[in-house]
Amino acid sequence: MVMAVAPPAPLVDQFGRTIRSLRVSVTDRCNFRCLYCMPEEGLPWLPNTRLMTFDEIERLVRLFVSLGIREVRLTGGEPTLRAGLPELIRRLAAIPGLEDLSLTTNGFLLKKLAGPLAEAGLRRVNVSLDSLDRARFAQLTRRDALDRVLEGLREVEKYPTLWPIKVNAVTMPEMSEEDILAFCELARSRAYVVRFLEYMPLDAAGNWDLSQVLPGATVLAIIRRYYALVPVPSRPGSTARCWRFADGRGEIGFINPVTEPFCAECNRLRLTADGQLRTCLFSTGDWDLLTPLRAGASDGELTAIIRAAVAHKEKKHRINEGAAFVRPNRSMSQIGG
Ligand code: GTP
Ligand code: 5AD
Ligand code: SF4
Repeated sequence: MVMAVAPPAPLVDQFGRTIRSLRVSVTDRCNFRCLYCMPEEGLPWLPNTRLMTFDEIERLVRLFVSLGIREVRLTGGEPTLRAGLPELIRRLAAIPGLEDLSLTTNGFLLKKLAGPLAEAGLRRVNVSLDSLDRARFAQLTRRDALDRVLEGLREVEKYPTLWPIKVNAVTMPEMSEEDILAFCELARSRAYVVRFLEYMPLDAAGNWDLSQVLPGATVLAIIRRYYALVPVPSRPGSTARCWRFADGRGEIGFINPVTEPFCAECNRLRLTADGQLRTCLFSTGDWDLLTPLRAGASDGELTAIIRAAVAHKEKKHRINEGAAFVRPNRSMSQIGG
């Protein structure tokens, strides 16, 4: 008699949240130097020997999918700097049970890479773009690259399998009404969902404070003075609350982790480029998967580490709790966003 083998139980944390999404950082390096992220000279990069190889990433993603992960998003630093990225996409896209495979990028290399990535099986692209004013963009990223990022977006448009294209704009109090309306125009004139993100305390310099956060509600109120908006229902676990322009042209969204935390619905885990599992963007520690993996651990042994990590997943971040908030020991680009 053949006994049916029951699939492994999904990953559920102590607050009843089922884990469905994994963000995998493929490099900590970046070709931009966003003021709010890293210094002009960059950060001490991981040596190549500490980066997960494609074989290691594929093995771990297969294991996570067997445990109920349905979405994988590749991040950085800047993920397009990882040599051979389309090959990694091809390998991950072939994993049965993985329903969504996406990328978060600064867009600088998309003109060249959008085609190969789409062809390899990438399903979605989110592009970070913080200003549509050339001088302001150059000031923010320390690179005069606005036109190149816009060209990259145009290239992505050619591949309908990569839609919906999302643009992420980190907001700051100095963002003007004109800047905000320019993003609305972009959302209305191209098929991009533009999302405004609140600035979080993950800058390498440690300079963040609450006075630098422009609440999403303030941006929304400004936009509503000009446009009628209709709410769009969000998927469970989504970071964003989205709105359609009432005339049917364009969609915008708000990611408000500081003023409207979405931790109660969080279904994410993160894997850093050096194979450390993090259960929250604001985790203060890692669960090392790379060392046991390289020492020959079985899937069962790795699963035990993953389940232990999930059992300790943080209830919520404590950004708004003054002294109770402890900054993570890695900055955004070293975690993977
Ligand atoms: P979609 O699936 O397309 O909605 O993507 P996403 O919003 O999950 O990913 P993206 O890489 O575009 O991230 C947008 C912003 O949300 C970034 O600033 C992320 O750091 C932030 N973000 C993503 N997940 C979390 C999270 O679990 N907690 C917090 N606080 N921020 C998050
Ligand atoms: N707060 C909010 N968003 C940030 N990003 C990078 N650093 C921060 C921060 N401190 C954004 C990037 C990108 C995404 C991965 O996170 O601009 O859109
Ligand atoms: Fe690079 Fe992203 Fe950091 Fe900007 S925010 S420096 S694009 S890792």
